[in-house]
Amino acid sequence: MCGIVAYLGEREAYPVLIKGLKRLEYRGYDSAGVALLDNDLHVYKKAGKVSELEAFVADKNINGNIGIGHTRWATHGVPNDTNAHPHMSNSGQFALVHNGIIENYAPIKEQLQKSGYVFHSQTDTEVLVNLIEEVKKQEKVSLEDAVRIALNQVVGAYAIVVIDKENNDRLIAARKGSPLVVGIGEAEFFVASDASPIIEYTKHVVYLDDQEYAIIDRDGTFTVKTLGNVEISPFIQQLQLDLESIEKGGFEHFMLKEIYEQPKVIKDAIRGRMNATDGWIKLGGVSEFANRINNAKRIIITACGTSWHSGLIAEYLIETLARVPVEVEYASEFRYRNPIVNESDVVIAISQSGETADTLAAIEIAKERQALVYGICNVIGSSIARATHAGSYTHAGPEIGVASTKAFTTQVVILTLMALQLAQQKGTISLSYLRQVLYELDNLHVKIEATLKLDSHIKEIAAKIKDVENALYLGRGYNFPVALEGALKLKEISYIHAEGYPAAEMKHGPIALIDENLPVIILATNESAYEKIVSNVQEVKARKGIVIAVVNEGDTQIKQMADYVIEVPKTEEVLSPLITMIPLQLLSYHIAVMRGANVDQPRNLAKSVTVE
Ligand code: M6R
Repeated sequence: MCGIVAYLGEREAYPVLIKGLKRLEYRGYDSAGVALLDNDLHVYKKAGKVSELEAFVADKNINGNIGIGHTRWATHGVPNDTNAHPHMSNSGQFALVHNGIIENYAPIKEQLQKSGYVFHSQTDTEVLVNLIEEVKKQEKVSLEDAVRIALNQVVGAYAIVVIDKENNDRLIAARKGSPLVVGIGEAEFFVASDASPIIEYTKHVVYLDDQEYAIIDRDGTFTVKTLGNVEISPFIQQLQLDLESIEKGGFEHFMLKEIYEQPKVIKDAIRGRMNATDGWIKLGGVSEFANRINNAKRIIITACGTSWHSGLIAEYLIETLARVPVEVEYASEFRYRNPIVNESDVVIAISQSGETADTLAAIEIAKERQALVYGICNVIGSSIARATHAGSYTHAGPEIGVASTKAFTTQVVILTLMALQLAQQKGTISLSYLRQVLYELDNLHVKIEATLKLDSHIKEIAAKIKDVENALYLGRGYNFPVALEGALKLKEISYIHAEGYPAAEMKHGPIALIDENLPVIILATNESAYEKIVSNVQEVKARKGIVIAVVNEGDTQIKQMADYVIEVPKTEEVLSPLITMIPLQLLSYHIAVMRGANVDQPRNLAKSVTVE
């Protein structure tokens, strides 16, 4: 939610900021703005995409080698020019960009208004920048002290960067609950919400921790302190990211590129973690906590959105293979319902971004109640990766399309390995079956490649149903969460209302929706429930629904009944979501493109949801 970028050095700041904002646009695209400091402080901001800001500043003074920029996902106040960041203090001396929410902004605003401050926007951010100004004035302290004192008064989450019109040699950046990374170059510094705006200039970065702030000076001094005013030694890391991984690489959209990356990232996710011939699995962090994980009385999985769907698949996997009870919880519900969690539980938190506020809060509750918390994250060094006791990275590489694709499949891979490893430890599966599944997993990229070759056929199906208003997705067993995820993919990028259901539940309600206009996407690869799925297909056809069936290659029965068939390579049933998800991703993608929707940046959404 919201992207921040800042620069201090010898280059012109504007090109660095605008390029950085474009890379961060996946985090929010309601408005964008920059503040550039030359002899004067120039603030330009505009509702809409970064490209609209670019057009707006075309004839403006964009000089200056220090500046801050922001791309917004609106929380307080509608997306318009006034609510766009950066926000200025009343005197015009300070400009600030902010990602997060200041929860106690209302009483602070009231107090500031009593002291004569005037507010132009509806944002909590304008309150914060004026609070800093007021503290500086009243306490007669430096900007650094004023920022620290002000941040100690606010409640909520933030990543901020502040610039002072009177000092073009210094930036101050701080974080609590929202990510912030500082890039350290040759006589220059970069600050951003993630490393993507920094990567082409330097690989040396420092990830600020919660309750830390950085004082960044043109003379090369870089100081990190806690909000308690204690200086700490920053840990400088070498970025592993490369520029290619954050560019479209010839694809029309990031989403399509990311769908096509799945054979590769699945290989990356299993590399070094398993061996099919010898029948072993080694997941990071599991051996350190082997005793607690192997003896867990219960596993609770918590996540949001797509990550929650991969958690549902894990419920099937872990209960079937390892016979340990699993509960899967929306993090947003878990955090507020006073859940029963204790030290014999293992909590698995799943998150692509590693920054989802609800998931982070759920982790804190689990930790307070002494559970072991295992994180499955994609973004290296993210808040969730750091907040958990142990964990595994999914190694999917940067996922920029707002609709999650490759992050989902790699999460499912890690969860499959976890389930198999636990089953092996508990003696609930045979070595020969373990080897069989691992062998299949090792070679699954070949079957995913083959599934991707169905793209043009799927595109033809998309063309037939692109104008519908509703769609129903049905699946059983491992394919039920895939049905939910397929429906989520369609609704979030094409704005078609879609629902996912367990196929057998159809008769308890959704069947009423079926008529000749309703596409029903049925996942029919489960051998164990094949006859039952055949009956579901018949039930839909009897009511004239349009059946699009995903079947195993060589299927004959459903093929005869369905209107459209997508034949995918057959795999082990426990691995089937990794195959059946691919056509659903492609189907949503093509429908959204045909409807003229912005696939990578769907309306109202943002890639990482760092607010409640
Ligand atoms: O970064 P996370 O995995 O924690 O994000 C969770 C959801 O916000 C995310 O999966 C969202 O539902 C995606 N837009 C789905 O495509």
